[in-house]
Amino acid sequence: MKVKNICCIGAGYVGGPTMAVIAQKCPEINVTVVDINEDRIAAWNNEDVEKIPVYEPGLPAVVKEARGKNLFFSTNVDAAIDAAELIFISVNTPTKTYGIGKGMAADLKWIELCARQIARVSRTDKIIVEKSTLPVRTAAALREILDNTGNGVKYQILSNPEFLAEGTAIQDLLNPDRVLIGGDVQSTEGQEAISALSGIYEKWVPKSKILTTNVWSSELSKLTANAFLAQRVSSINAMSELCEVTGADVTEVAKAIGMDSRIGSKFLNSSVGFGGSCFQKDILNLVYIAQSFGLKEVAEYWEQVIIMNDYQKKRFAANIIQTLYNTVSGKKITILGWAFKKDTNDTRESAAIYVVDHLLNEEANITVYDPKVQSEQIFSDLDYLKSRSKEANRSNLKVVHDPYEACKNSHAIAVLTEWEEFKGYDWERIYQNMLKPAFVFDGRNLLDIQELIKIGFVPKGVGKPEFMESFAAKPAMVG
Ligand code: NAD
Ligand code: UDX
Repeated sequence: MKVKNICCIGAGYVGGPTMAVIAQKCPEINVTVVDINEDRIAAWNNEDVEKIPVYEPGLPAVVKEARGKNLFFSTNVDAAIDAAELIFISVNTPTKTYGIGKGMAADLKWIELCARQIARVSRTDKIIVEKSTLPVRTAAALREILDNTGNGVKYQILSNPEFLAEGTAIQDLLNPDRVLIGGDVQSTEGQEAISALSGIYEKWVPKSKILTTNVWSSELSKLTANAFLAQRVSSINAMSELCEVTGADVTEVAKAIGMDSRIGSKFLNSSVGFGGSCFQKDILNLVYIAQSFGLKEVAEYWEQVIIMNDYQKKRFAANIIQTLYNTVSGKKITILGWAFKKDTNDTRESAAIYVVDHLLNEEANITVYDPKVQSEQIFSDLDYLKSRSKEANRSNLKVVHDPYEACKNSHAIAVLTEWEEFKGYDWERIYQNMLKPAFVFDGRNLLDIQELIKIGFVPKGVGKPEFMESFAAKPAMVG
């Protein structure tokens, strides 16, 4: 089948960047990205490409090159489905917040809606590609919906999970470690569909990096990849606590183990805890799937990755409270960074949300600075937790747009996102304007601790030897 028109349902963090790159690399194909969210589509169509809804380095240039030529953003979902030979489903699959599987299973409501819409609208044969991350065997459910509509259209269902990470999406899409395509490898039609999708990627990805598997392996590989990556972060974070009590330095430990080629050096940065829309959701989903097959030990094994991550976030907040003489009530604490990692405006499951929630429970006065996150987003992240009234969130937390203003008269600074710009600040100036002792809790081990000590700060990293030792005669704790 020759693909001339692609439709992508879902103009989010995956759909937008992925389709922009496909459009750039395949100028002969029309790519239409559709969404039911009118504001989002309007933002993708904003004349000023710097104002598109997803902040991602390099993305504006790609959008600028293709948009209006062969890349379109639209709310007319039916028309785009009708015209396409190949449809990517790239809608959200969050953790269920109700009913059976609440808090664990993936909510597939939006996936099913897409399938029903495709079935209703289609008049010609189509290749349906699962781009969203889905529980293993979702393709079987899609097939049932699509094949039972009675309009005679033939569908091939492929799984093509996306491995991009936010903040490096364009680089990851242009130069992926691999592209995974799962399909019906047994049938001629299945093989044709796989080669049609593979042909698109072959425009810029070497064939040797395009991997074909059966559908179930592909669906499960995506959950497995995220589980393994998150597990590394939880593993190094577990060691960080041991480092803090023994005098070992987690950065040195990570380097020492990472040089073992069997372990590898990536993804060993100890932190305040992983965030993002994927890791927690996908592991919970994996745990739920294992449980539903009765695999108790498998479920418990993976659940521990989440338990460790929740513990790391709580431990970080508790450490701030304890260090500030067991009370943060009425104290100004400055949060540098709200995004779940640098170079993105995405805040989903960001550790900052949970750390700040703990501190607000202890009646701290919070001031937040993030170079890319809007204040409405920060308040909506906190409101979502329902820990206190919306008014209380707004009266106890301030968002400011100047980092020096944010740090002024502060008792402590907590670095929660590894934005590069934080390193370049005039820390001397920040120190002069803070209350003393001037505490810095570096949840990313981003700053130069020795430099901070020289200036006069009392810095605390994650998994770092106890710099409070020089404060051996710690004042007695209150409470
Ligand atoms: P997102 O929430 O940013 O975007 C999803 C979009 O789909 C939303 O704009 C929503 O309005 C739209 N949508 C939902 N139902 C629709 C429907 N019936 N018709 C039209 N539009 C609809 O989500 P995302 O971060 O892009 O993630 C999408 C999928 O990709 C998820 O399954 C996720 O797990 C997976 N994934 C995400 C990442 C990532 O880094 N964010 C990476 C790899 C995979
Ligand atoms: C992840 C996967 O990496 C990607 O392949 C998948 O497609 C989507 O989920 P993402 O969540 O965008 O991508 O970012 P990632 O770089 O994986 O970081 C996730 C979280 O882990 C962030 O909060 C990050 O700060 C944290 N992290 C990562 C660490 O704390 N330490 C590390 O060493 C690496």
